[in-house]
Amino acid sequence: MLAPISTFTNLPFRLLCQRHGARGTVVPLVSAKAICMRKSAIGELDPDPAEKSVGVQIFGSTPADIGKAAGIIARKYDFIEYIDINCACPVKKLVRTGAGSALLHRPAVAAKMIEAASECGLPITAKLRKLRDAGKTLEFCRACERAGAAAFFVHGRTREQGYSGEADWEIVKLIAESADVPVIGSGDVRSVEEGMEKARRSGCASFMIGRAAMADPGVFSSPPSSTASRKRSLFLEYRAICEESGRLSFVDLKSKAIQIFSGFGNSMAVRREIGLSKDMGGLMAAVDSA
Ligand SMILES: Cc1cc2nc3c(=O)[nH]c(=O)nc-3n(C[C@H](O)[C@H](O)[C@H](O)COP(=O)(O)O)c2cc1C
Repeated sequence: MLAPISTFTNLPFRLLCQRHGARGTVVPLVSAKAICMRKSAIGELDPDPAEKSVGVQIFGSTPADIGKAAGIIARKYDFIEYIDINCACPVKKLVRTGAGSALLHRPAVAAKMIEAASECGLPITAKLRKLRDAGKTLEFCRACERAGAAAFFVHGRTREQGYSGEADWEIVKLIAESADVPVIGSGDVRSVEEGMEKARRSGCASFMIGRAAMADPGVFSSPPSSTASRKRSLFLEYRAICEESGRLSFVDLKSKAIQIFSGFGNSMAVRREIGLSKDMGGLMAAVDSA
C-alpha cells in the first residue's frame, strides 16, 4: 500500500497510485485538535469513496481529542475503513506536544487513545517507529493491542534516526511474531518484489511504499524504471486526475514534478527548470524538456 506522506499523498496522488496497483491508502497526519476545535477543519480532509481501502491518520496529545476527532471523522466519512493514530512522527513541533513519536514513551496514553477512538465503531490502528530498546517497542505494541488496536504499521527506524540509516525489518518481524493482529511493514521498500520479500521474511501481512512512490507512482504495478518518458506520462496522468477532481494547483503540481522527474539522464537540469518555474506555463515547458 501507499505510505502516508504528509502534504504529498493528497487525493489525486493516492488515486494515481491506486490506478497503478496500490491496494490501500491513508489520508496523512490530520490534527485531532483542529478537527475538535474548528468545524471547517473536517471539510479540509480529502478521503474519497473512489478510493479502494482508505483510512484517515490523526495525531494528538490527549485521548479526549483523539476520541472526539475519531467520532467526527467516522460520522462524516462513513466509507473510510479505519482510523490510524500516528505514534511515529519525529517532527519536533509535534513531539513537544506529546503527540507522534512521543507516544512511544507513553504506552498507557496511547492505549487510552485507542480505547477512546474505538468508540467511533471503526477499527483503530497505530503507526509507530521502533524504540532503541526492542523490548520496550514490543511492550508498546502489547499495550495498544490490549486496548483494541486492529493493526500496526511499523517503520523500523527510531525517532532519532529520522530517515537516515537503514530501516530495521528485524523489529518488524519481532512485532509480527508477537502480535495477534496484522502488521504492515514500512521502510526502504523500492519495488513490489522487494516489499513482498521483506513481508514474507518478517511475517508481515503487507508492506508500504513511501519515498519510492513519490519518485515513481507507477512502482506498484511495474518494476522501477526511471526513463524520462515514463516520468512524463505519470506526471501528465497526475495532472489529468487533478483536473478531473477540480484540484489543480500550480504549487502542488510543482512539488510533484520535482519528485517525479528524478533518476534519468538530464533530470538535474529538468528539475532545475521545474524549480525556477513561476507559473503553469513555465512548469509545463520544463516538463516538456525532459
Ligand atoms: C516527507 C515525509 C513525510 C512523511 N509523512 C508521514 C505522515 O504524515 N504520517 C506517517 O505515518 N508517516 C509519514 N512518513 C513516513 C512514511 O510513511 C514511511 O513510513 C517512511 O518514509 C519509510 O518508508 P519509505 O522508505 O518507503 O519512504 C513520512 C515520510 C516522509 C519522507
